[in-house]
Amino acid sequence: MCGIMGYIGGKPAKYIIYNGLQRLEYRGYDSVGIATLGKQLQTIKTVGDTSKLNIDLIDPKATMGIGHTRWATHGKPTEANAHPHSFGAITLVHNGIIENYEELKTMIDSKKLKSQTDSEVLAAVIDYYFKKEADLVKATKYALQDAKGTFGLAIISKDAPGQIVVARRGSPIVIGVGNQQYFIASDQTAILDHTNKVIYLEDDQIAVVKADSLELYDLKLLAQKVAFETLDESPESLTKGVYRNFLEKEIHEQPTALANTMRGRVSSDGSITLGGPNLSQADIAKLKQILIIGCGTAYNAGYYAKYELEKILGLPVSVEYASEFRYRFGAYDPETTLAIFMSQSGETADTIASLNEAKRRGIKTMGIVNVVGSTIAREVANGGIFLHAGVESSVASTKAYSCMVSALLMFGGFITYRQGKDAAITQKIAKELLELPDEIALTLELQDSIKKLAQKLLGYHDWFFLGRGSLYPVAMEGALKLSEVSYLHAQAFPSGEMKHGPIALVNSQHMSVLLLPEDNLLYNKTLSTLEEIKARGGKVLTVSTRPKEPASDFHLTVAHVGDHVDGLIYNVCLQLLTLAISEKKGLNIDRPRNLAKSVTVE
Ligand code: AGP
Ligand code: GLU
Repeated sequence: MCGIMGYIGGKPAKYIIYNGLQRLEYRGYDSVGIATLGKQLQTIKTVGDTSKLNIDLIDPKATMGIGHTRWATHGKPTEANAHPHSFGAITLVHNGIIENYEELKTMIDSKKLKSQTDSEVLAAVIDYYFKKEADLVKATKYALQDAKGTFGLAIISKDAPGQIVVARRGSPIVIGVGNQQYFIASDQTAILDHTNKVIYLEDDQIAVVKADSLELYDLKLLAQKVAFETLDESPESLTKGVYRNFLEKEIHEQPTALANTMRGRVSSDGSITLGGPNLSQADIAKLKQILIIGCGTAYNAGYYAKYELEKILGLPVSVEYASEFRYRFGAYDPETTLAIFMSQSGETADTIASLNEAKRRGIKTMGIVNVVGSTIAREVANGGIFLHAGVESSVASTKAYSCMVSALLMFGGFITYRQGKDAAITQKIAKELLELPDEIALTLELQDSIKKLAQKLLGYHDWFFLGRGSLYPVAMEGALKLSEVSYLHAQAFPSGEMKHGPIALVNSQHMSVLLLPEDNLLYNKTLSTLEEIKARGGKVLTVSTRPKEPASDFHLTVAHVGDHVDGLIYNVCLQLLTLAISEKKGLNIDRPRNLAKSVTVE
């Protein structure tokens, strides 16, 4: 949820840490701080984002330090609650939640606490052990053995100069390896500017990082083998380029991102080859139930795929919110069930917890993830599919949604072929997928007309997004996008549900976005919804592959590509609509209030 940055080497630490925090602000940004250790320990912190931080106050000669952008879980966003937190000889930054921090307070002199945070209590416990052990690593080990909950940590001490102790349990930490210098961060977006050689910490690992060495231990302080990985993203992927914000950039990146998702997997001869899923022929033959589990946009992508995969595979597909699945004992037979975990970041706490629950029950687990090296990607038991969509920086997910749906369709085509079904099913999926990048590129050309349309819609504060079949989850995604970026109240319903309650909300101040399907029967059924809304004075924006209906107030016409993928074309229009309305409202497009890109706390 927050962003951690650390540096140790030969350069002025403050600039590297500051720039790293700017890269990480999409993860959480209610307050920010930096601590460096040179001749002395210096700490600056403030409410707000990095633009409020005055690094001129920090000695440029300091060549090691830590920084943090916070998304508050314990204690309001105040300067006192901002990280880094110091207690005694210990200074740390923390991502996660220490669940037993109240209990831990009994170990320390809590009257000396200066904040309301769980993180400061952890610093105090480490200081307690440090006074006993006079060894920062041992002190950290003992404190983490006492702590319950999640952490990504970077710890320094004025009494143990020249080293940063790093540890993780449940909150990601990646360490960039440079020449006589190391970079510590919550994710690789803050590392890419300096190196593409990285180490991902595993849960309950502690690293001792010095300018010229890195040692890795488990919680018993037994040495662990260091596994280096190489990042394939470029630093350029971290800039907005010609776009005003990352949201616009990532909407426009969808043709390229989709091509990358399909590269080497979907071929023009109609075959679909996936090397990532680790499912034997016997596993596939036994398959009787698929679960798709995720949060937010990842959930919506899974819900879209449900409609298509049930047709393609002839199997029941149940889509579950991760925050529900982890606590609900669903009646699933582990022998015949496959659970697919959807996550752009691969670090969403509820999705990780659901993965662990599914594994506990012996259910096969696969991941569909964008960030290589992320927790979900490393912990699924039966492999998965990387999206290769490139870095997604904007808090509102766009290209990952399209790539997740496409990856699930690829999976459907891959499995149905291995089930021995008619190869034409796979060929149809492949054909539609291969046409998608160009068709989405054409749809993006609607941006200017959608901007003009948005100007007319600014006065509406209550919105419905309505659709049938796989257009219903598209409506869900459209409602989520509009609400999370423009702060307008938006709800999604199956269009057939309107007369069962929601229509009571319709009046002349209410706007409905009605997605009309290609299918003739359902198109006409949905027209009745249009009439019902108009009869009550509501306004309607229709989106369909046909010309405007007379009853509709506003209309967007999209291309028909194929029944498996049409929804992704409609979805691009809804993304552009959110972008246009939010820009006109002058909002913080990439970092909406109260949100963070990766929800690594529950
Ligand atoms: C998407 O626009 C939201 N910001 C959010 O719902 C997101 O999809 C959700 O938190 C899941 O994130 P993940 O895909 O990284 O697991
Ligand atoms: N729980 C800590 C706090 O509230 C860390 C939150 C975060 O991950 O940013 O300060």
